[in-house]
Amino acid sequence: MIVVETNKLSKIYTHDFIDVEHGRLRFNFMRRTVALADLDLQVGKGEIVGLLGPNGAGKSTTIKILMGILFPSSGSAKLMGRPLGDKAVKAKIGFLPENPFFYDYLKGEEFLDYYGQLYGMSKADRRKRIRELFDYVGLPDHAPNLPLKGYSKGMLQRIGLAQAILNDPEVVVLDEPQSGLDPLGRKEIRDIILSLKDRGKTVFFSSHVLSDAELICDRVAILNKGRLVAQGELGHLLSSKIKDYEVIVTGMRKESVEALRPHAIKCIERDADVLFIFEKEDDVREVLRRVIDENARLVSVTPRRDTLEEYFIREVTRGPGAAETGAQGGAA
Ligand SMILES: Nc1ncnc2c1ncn2[C@@H]1O[C@H](COP(=O)(O)OP(=O)(O)OP(=O)(O)O)[C@@H](O)[C@H]1O
Ligand SMILES: [Mg+2]
Repeated sequence: MIVVETNKLSKIYTHDFIDVEHGRLRFNFMRRTVALADLDLQVGKGEIVGLLGPNGAGKSTTIKILMGILFPSSGSAKLMGRPLGDKAVKAKIGFLPENPFFYDYLKGEEFLDYYGQLYGMSKADRRKRIRELFDYVGLPDHAPNLPLKGYSKGMLQRIGLAQAILNDPEVVVLDEPQSGLDPLGRKEIRDIILSLKDRGKTVFFSSHVLSDAELICDRVAILNKGRLVAQGELGHLLSSKIKDYEVIVTGMRKESVEALRPHAIKCIERDADVLFIFEKEDDVREVLRRVIDENARLVSVTPRRDTLEEYFIREVTRGPGAAETGAQGGAA
């Protein structure tokens, strides 16, 4: 079952650019920014999908359209099979915005209680759920009674996440959930996202932190300048791209090392150990043959794949043309 679906979703922002007076005529140029162009995206039930892309790629625009904060310029989207704006569906979606607004003087517990009331939760339910959530998102014991103005960036991010999952939603949409967190905090958010998946939830989140996305996503979609440059299972996107093989042997005969050296991208000797990097699998086989013949020892063979970061940088730098930003002139 597909729970998030976009069809040719596009967003063009039109904003005032320049006002020029020429004699009695006044020209008003409008600048258009194509923030999102024909995005086709699908997120299946129970999946963790990462929406990745550099600054200005259109991640927040996509998420804001899905959450009903912005209207698309063209195209359409569905959540849980229903068109955007369906009230019954909205009640099953949790959302952490990119820059959440917090009422400084509310205490942590009051903040979540306020949202719990908006969701129509009973007082008893709110009390039980809020207590669980403070623990679940890793906030310290004093957090419930601390006004939000006393929260650190990481604590605010956590309480924002608690708010997003307060009503036990089916689909959780998070815009940069790891922003502002230290490595331990990022790991904790990853663990929370994984535990949401374990409980059958669907998580759709945007991120800059590629290594975090690599660790938890079933699938990723990479946006650049408003266009989708790649989408798919991480294993599939990366596994087709074994870059090279790292082979470490020990006790190999000098003549063998010299015979293999011209085939290797790298050959480093240290004492009895030799590290080779080969591009071709056939060269790895040749090493193995010699290791057996010479009674040498194989220490390791490691196929080295692209990391998501390497893949991302390559796709984004050679991605489709620049966003169509242009000026439309008109006399006023
Ligand atoms: N309200 C707006 N008016 C005009 N242009 C906008 C507006 N909001 C976003 N944009 C432009 O749309 C493009 C996409 O912005 P968006 O915020 O969706 O990117 P993003 O991928 O979330 O970036 P970041 O990683 O920095 O959060 C950018 O070029 C941005 O300048
Ligand atoms: Mg953003």
